Amino acid sequence: MKTQRLTTDKSGIIKACEILKDGGIVAIPTETVYGLAANAYNPNAISKIFKAKGRPQDNPLIVHIANINSLNEIATDIPKSVYRLAEKFWPGPLTIVLNKTDNIPPCVSAGLSTVAVRMPSNPVAQEVISVSGLPLAAPSANLSGSPSPTTATHVINDLDGKIDAVIMGEDCNVGVESTVISLTGEHPVLLRPGGVTLEELREILPDIKVDKAVLSELKSGEKASSPGMKYKHYAPKTETFLVEGDAFAEFVNTKENAVAVCFLEEIENIKIPKIVYGSGATPESLAQNIFATLREVDSMGANAVYIHAPEKNGIGLAVYNRLIRAAAFKVIKL
Ligand code: TXA
Ligand code: MG
Repeated sequence: MKTQRLTTDKSGIIKACEILKDGGIVAIPTETVYGLAANAYNPNAISKIFKAKGRPQDNPLIVHIANINSLNEIATDIPKSVYRLAEKFWPGPLTIVLNKTDNIPPCVSAGLSTVAVRMPSNPVAQEVISVSGLPLAAPSANLSGSPSPTTATHVINDLDGKIDAVIMGEDCNVGVESTVISLTGEHPVLLRPGGVTLEELREILPDIKVDKAVLSELKSGEKASSPGMKYKHYAPKTETFLVEGDAFAEFVNTKENAVAVCFLEEIENIKIPKIVYGSGATPESLAQNIFATLREVDSMGANAVYIHAPEKNGIGLAVYNRLIRAAAFKVIKL
């Protein structure tokens, strides 16, 4: 199949909407990462997403809406806290897991009785949803297992020839995927940290718990509250280690045939090949660059990569969560 490149202006949006209404799949920019969108009500279109990405069938998709009034069509038993969260964080990088209605086919929710919903803030994404008039199921627009795409070029590198079209939008400014919380149990639970921070969520959900898969590896056979958290993810082909502690430069300088992924502040002290992924003092900059950096690592031709871990607060928690997966949980504490 030939993958069309679409513009972000009116003609591109209209074309994208036609493809989506016809049951096709289109990569669209969002503020977090590019998403691979399909009509959430069309199981045949949804099956194309799983096929193009090579995504395991048991990993459910997020449904994207542009208007809070669409929520009732998708979810049921909606707690009042959803409206307080929506007022503060929607549109934006927050995904909420709720009980689903029968409108949502089982392939979207991977057979679960729940559905994940988010309202993106990127104007192009919003327009595609509202002009098509469809709720759009969209996972990240990468091959399953590889780093999420934060530029249209990343999407093309992974999916050219496998999807109907890609909207050639701007680079994503958050850089990591949305925060996923579940509101279907006794307490709210953080399933995946992201653009909306745990500290911000606590102001509205003081009793929010952090799922154990956020910061550690599930044991084999242990059930994942969020199926996506059990897969190896985001990994470069180069063997990857996450390194925690201040003596990062001294540590990596003893390594041969290795690359360091480091903070701007320590660049002068590192004597081996390196990629700077942002400032250690601004976790937002680390989030913006982390996935592009993970894609760049393999081009350096090293045997191993050592990544300096961010602090686990603010959006740093999301970066840390992605990096322990990229490193297949190989964490070195200095
Ligand atoms: O920022 C984002 O969320 C991006 C953009 C495109 O919106 N999308 C994204 O989708 O990251 P994906 O499919 O790569 O990640 C969705 C995550 C997975 O970890 C999945 O297991 C979880 O959300 N999820 C989806 N539905 C769920 C449900 N009903 N219960 C628990 N977890 C769910
Ligand atoms: Mg993904």
